Amino acid sequence: MEANYTHIQITAAQAAEIAPEHYHIKGEITPLPGELDFNFKIKTDEDSFLLKVSRPDADEQEIAFQEKILAWLATHAQNIISPLVFKDKDGHAISKYQDEHGQTRLVRLLNFIPGRLWSAVNPQNEALLYSLGKEAGKLSTTLQGFEHPLAHRDFPWDVGQAQWTYNYTNLFSDDKLEIIEYFQSLFKEIHEPYQSLRKSVVHSDANDNNVIVSNDLIHPQVKAIIDYGDAIYTQTINDLAIAIAYAVMNKSDVLEASLPIIKAYYQEFPLLEEELEFLYTLVAMRLVISVTKSAINRQLEPDNTYLLISEKPAWQVLEKWKAISEDLAHYSFRAACGFCPHPKEKEFKNWAAKQNISIQSLFPQIEFEELKKVDMSIESTWMGHESEYLNNQFTEYKLQELKSANKNIIVAGGYLETRPFYITDAYKKESNNGPIYRAVHLGTDLWLEAKTAIHAPLDGEVFSIHHNDADKDYGPTLILKHQTEEGLEFYSLYGHLSLNSLNQIKKNQKVKRGELIAWVGNQEENGNWAAHLHFQLMLSMLDYEYDFPGVSTAKELEIWSSICPDSNLLWKEKNLEEALQKDNEQLIKYRKQHLGKSLSLSYDIPLKMVRGAGAFLLDSSGRKYLDTVNNVAHVGHEHERVVKAGQAQMGILNTNSRYLHENINQFAEELLSTFPQELSVVHFVNSGSEANELALRMCRAYSGQKDMIAVEIGYHGNTNGCIEVSSYKFDGKGGKGAPEHTHIVPLPDAYRGLYQGENCGEKYAAHIQEQVDRIQAKGRNVAGFICESIISCGGQIELPEDYLKTAYSAIRKAGGLCISDEVQVGVGRVGKAFWGFQLHDVVPDIVTIGKPIGNGHPLAAVVCTRAVADAFANGMEYFNTFGGNPVSCAIGREVLRVVKDEKLQQNALEVGEYLKSELEVLSKDFPIIGNVRGQGLFLGFELVDENKNPLPEKAAYLANRMKDLGILMSTDGKDVNVLKIKPPMVFSKENAEELIKRLKVIFTEDFMRE
Ligand SMILES: Cc1ncc(COP(=O)(O)O)c(C=O)c1O
Repeated sequence: MEANYTHIQITAAQAAEIAPEHYHIKGEITPLPGELDFNFKIKTDEDSFLLKVSRPDADEQEIAFQEKILAWLATHAQNIISPLVFKDKDGHAISKYQDEHGQTRLVRLLNFIPGRLWSAVNPQNEALLYSLGKEAGKLSTTLQGFEHPLAHRDFPWDVGQAQWTYNYTNLFSDDKLEIIEYFQSLFKEIHEPYQSLRKSVVHSDANDNNVIVSNDLIHPQVKAIIDYGDAIYTQTINDLAIAIAYAVMNKSDVLEASLPIIKAYYQEFPLLEEELEFLYTLVAMRLVISVTKSAINRQLEPDNTYLLISEKPAWQVLEKWKAISEDLAHYSFRAACGFCPHPKEKEFKNWAAKQNISIQSLFPQIEFEELKKVDMSIESTWMGHESEYLNNQFTEYKLQELKSANKNIIVAGGYLETRPFYITDAYKKESNNGPIYRAVHLGTDLWLEAKTAIHAPLDGEVFSIHHNDADKDYGPTLILKHQTEEGLEFYSLYGHLSLNSLNQIKKNQKVKRGELIAWVGNQEENGNWAAHLHFQLMLSMLDYEYDFPGVSTAKELEIWSSICPDSNLLWKEKNLEEALQKDNEQLIKYRKQHLGKSLSLSYDIPLKMVRGAGAFLLDSSGRKYLDTVNNVAHVGHEHERVVKAGQAQMGILNTNSRYLHENINQFAEELLSTFPQELSVVHFVNSGSEANELALRMCRAYSGQKDMIAVEIGYHGNTNGCIEVSSYKFDGKGGKGAPEHTHIVPLPDAYRGLYQGENCGEKYAAHIQEQVDRIQAKGRNVAGFICESIISCGGQIELPEDYLKTAYSAIRKAGGLCISDEVQVGVGRVGKAFWGFQLHDVVPDIVTIGKPIGNGHPLAAVVCTRAVADAFANGMEYFNTFGGNPVSCAIGREVLRVVKDEKLQQNALEVGEYLKSELEVLSKDFPIIGNVRGQGLFLGFELVDENKNPLPEKAAYLANRMKDLGILMSTDGKDVNVLKIKPPMVFSKENAEELIKRLKVIFTEDFMRE
């Protein structure tokens, strides 16, 4: 076999001979992949060409046919790029070459379309898939009307001729055979109607090596589809099927990936509804042809690797494709084309509009006057904290309360509601953009008491009755099948029933409207929910029998809500009608008009966060984001103990600190116990800015001086005083440089700063002495020095050894005070110590605390020495309306206790060290990670080129792409090229692994590797 292949192969050396001999061109030769032809790129000084040399047995007629297509495209194509043909030196479009074995080869020269092959593009995002559909659609449109006798040849790659594969099933066994036979049987079933679909000459081979993509690495677009060697007269829709078959390879969700292609194809070449019915099978049949060919060719030409190249991904797609319900795929394709996803949706709605069925017919024994809708959406405050909505008894109690406050009501709702309780692993799925959740409810819940008798609202037949007994499943579930007078079939589902309902009714039993069919179950038997009935309509059962999804992802909602229409179409209850939700556009518009312009929003498409839980934030669509940004939610977003401590105190008293209260004393005592003895006095305030503002006043009061020394790119708050010591602001956009009394020292960045490497601490600290000298030279003296113990906005800069020690000593010698700004890093975050300054073996005069101590509640503090506090207390009262109030102190105390009880400082140390070491490993594979630094869960990594030049665009790209995959990250630093990692302290090893896993994906993307 091997001898055979080398016998026909054309080498680059031969191509280098052919080009000048036949076409008078000379250039650099690069071999390119090709299934039949041997292809070479020839790059001359001016241009690039594609030289195609046939196999010895090539049919000249077939090649002439391809030339005709190119000529047709050259004259008929409107806005598509197709290869141009160059004639040889004798004026022939097809030239001839004798190889060393005396065999004749047909040679062609085309212009080379610049770009990248689809197979080399990463990521293949939705916009790229869409542009593939556009190009494929344009090509189908342009080829309408083209005719050629050879287009009617027998051709094994033609999906329309895929029957030949039936004879090769012996090449497969086990799972593979099952897959092949499954699709072949579908293909047999559609045979007749498929024959009558419209036909035309199509390209028939938009595989991943025939699609040329632009060189734009952020917004790549398909430029051209090349190689017309497989063009054939067949069902036009086959061309779309082929494009899909290859483009969805290597995608997590192949159905999701197919939809933008179909959508765009349809816009260029409107498909007919009946064509879409076959698309699912046709996509698979192209892959069945491909894997059958591979199996045959593996026997014939074992060394021709190109033939085998797409085998593995083809099998992966076939496996995934088979797992998708054919009907669901069909409805999804219809939706992509703008048709009603379920073909019978309109018919059902028209029928339902004419029905007169009271909701009471479901539970005729219950007397009620009004139906009240309850909001169980992810945004609902009625749902309360996670610990509340997950507690069935508490939910039942709240529902009871609602009922007693409103006499004679039935509580119901939930259709198309995005709900928080589904955002768990049980409802998670991996999309092409990271994990998403099936969190949008497709049924209506009727919050009836356990044992309530349920009656059939319509005539029907028992389709299935089954105990779906997994935790949080439907429990005992009844599905009835109905038929309208016009013959339209549909189903109704009754979930969370009692166990004895399973004996009430049998499969296939006919039921009459009004007949008793089941009872509502209690939480022990109903799948572990507060008692209720889940009622849902379905226009198709897809491939389900006992169960049916009761929830959908937000992305697929258009399709699922079409399959599962609103049950209120039957009842027509005013109170159950869907409330219109404010979309994000309206929120943005209002913000722009009425909130300060300098208030920024994160991300190009802003997120609307509605819930927090531990290390995660949840947006209004039910997407769950791993939060590596928010060190404010120190012990975890909405930590139950902290929330309850605040709620409980708010329920009894909140007032200012002019009255005695246990909370302020206890909080002060517990907070001070975390400090060295010297730091023994605390003032409570409401924000980090306010804390630093007070600290600045203390410095001035203590020293009688005004001049402050601060660090380059430092940020200390938004008040006048804080801005004056924040180089990040006054040296940044809109800033006017350092004020007269502020003196800036260089950022002590040992990686890319003024002094680099180890032992640069004293060199950096020498600048502090220099500034002290300068101030003194003006006849003034220094009031203080303010510095974070890891510089956050500067890009997670760890202070070099001895920096703080030397700096503090210089300041103190001059009579000034040293402020450690722990607003970002304090409260155990650095792992090895509770406060950042403790990493440096110094004791500041003043420590400012903010963000973490209130876990999101506005709480901050200034801790100082007795001497500083006494100097500040010069007789003028320090009054702070909110600082130290009982609610804030209850919250602050609880945060400290949770840090201790949950050993979060230890967690920061362990997970932080694990994450840091994993990032270091990553930096070996991706050298643009120049430096990994930080302590505990206050980490950062810097993106640089080989000369340590900053790469801010890559940092921004990375943060944005990570958001797409469900992870929030932030960038910062002097050159905005540092990714900061400062998650809630409950961040686990598993969270760190997820972060690393997704980072790896993005680091391999084209823009990151460029
Ligand atoms: C180091 C540092 N100090 C002070 C502040 C100001 O805190 P706040 O925003 O609570 O006023 C910040 C805020 O980001 C900060 O990062």
